[in-house]
Amino acid sequence: MADKILLSPPDMAGTELDYIKEAFDTNWIAPVGPHVDAFEEELATYVGAKYAVAVSSGTAGLHLALLAAGVGEGDVVFCQSFTFAASVNPVLYQKAIPVLIDSDCNTWNMSVAALELAFKTRKPKAVIVTHIYGQAADMARIKQLCDANNALLIEDACESLGTTYAGKQTGTIGDIGVYSFNGNKIITTSGGGMIVTDKKEWADQIKYLSQQAKSTTPHYLHETVGYNYRLSNVLAGIGRAQLTTLDDKIKKRRAAFAKYQQAFHGTEVEMMPVDQNGVTSNRWLSVILIPDKKPHDLMHFLAKENIESRLVWNPMHQQPFLKDIDFVKIEDKAVSDELFQSGLCLPSGSQLQKEEQERIIYLIKKYFRAGGEE
Ligand SMILES: Cc1ncc(COP(=O)(O)O)c(C=O)c1O
Repeated sequence: MADKILLSPPDMAGTELDYIKEAFDTNWIAPVGPHVDAFEEELATYVGAKYAVAVSSGTAGLHLALLAAGVGEGDVVFCQSFTFAASVNPVLYQKAIPVLIDSDCNTWNMSVAALELAFKTRKPKAVIVTHIYGQAADMARIKQLCDANNALLIEDACESLGTTYAGKQTGTIGDIGVYSFNGNKIITTSGGGMIVTDKKEWADQIKYLSQQAKSTTPHYLHETVGYNYRLSNVLAGIGRAQLTTLDDKIKKRRAAFAKYQQAFHGTEVEMMPVDQNGVTSNRWLSVILIPDKKPHDLMHFLAKENIESRLVWNPMHQQPFLKDIDFVKIEDKAVSDELFQSGLCLPSGSQLQKEEQERIIYLIKKYFRAGGEE
């Protein structure tokens, strides 16, 4: 049996241990230290943001973004339905009210028409838009709607570090952006996240809240409730090494996407949308849509061949924990439901070998030639 081909495994730059050693040599084994400061500066420079705050996860980052935006009990927050639960959970941590918005079939992200409809009857304090699988949302129109309705725009850019939209990095187009460095992301610190913003007041507040809201007084003074959300200096070292290879990783993931696209062209297998005008996706994951709407079957077939694939996100409006939450859609059949019924994420890692990808393509074509039978 061939070695297992994973969906999106960590891809080490090779210099991570040097950074870790430096943290050990200097004894900065803490959620503070020179690697944390440098990682923030380097990432802010990379994405073109004024401020960056390193945190323990993307989820913690989204929670702090909501706190900075002043979202509290009873406030309405619009969220994309086609996303991971971590986009919505922080809204509930704040006892705020999520309203779920369907996707657009051209971007798979928040539908502008559904968003417009949602704004007609509600006044949200913030909108969290996700750039799913690294694909940018229609930010110009979403931002315009948020501005017109006085809603803050938070970008869940957890999957889209390095994706550019009209010359800007996703995460820096709205008011606050959040990246994740979870083990399966385009760069990883094993677990971690980063919040970016151009507003100093928010960056300061986020840092303060992430460190238990401890005042700078010599005695312990806490004016408000705080959180232990800072990134470890050891992990920030891993992030610094990883960041030096981000461009290369994007290039490789884009090449894998292009290869799938070329291979499935003219077949019954549809690829996720191509980049819209002015967008260059990081292609975190390559996703296909399967004609018979049985992605489970293909997933099991590939698993037997030692190939990991994964169903796309089951939309939030289908989740039991959000069953009483409003869902706004334009189409009769929700676009996010359609995507869930036919989407499958294929191995997309930056270390995916040419022969491995050829084998995946060969097997998928063979599967469909056999009429979807194993
Ligand atoms: C869209 C999305 N939002 C939020 C998160 C949460 O990030 P983390 O796992 O770092 O908490 C993830 C990834 O896990 C994600 O894919």
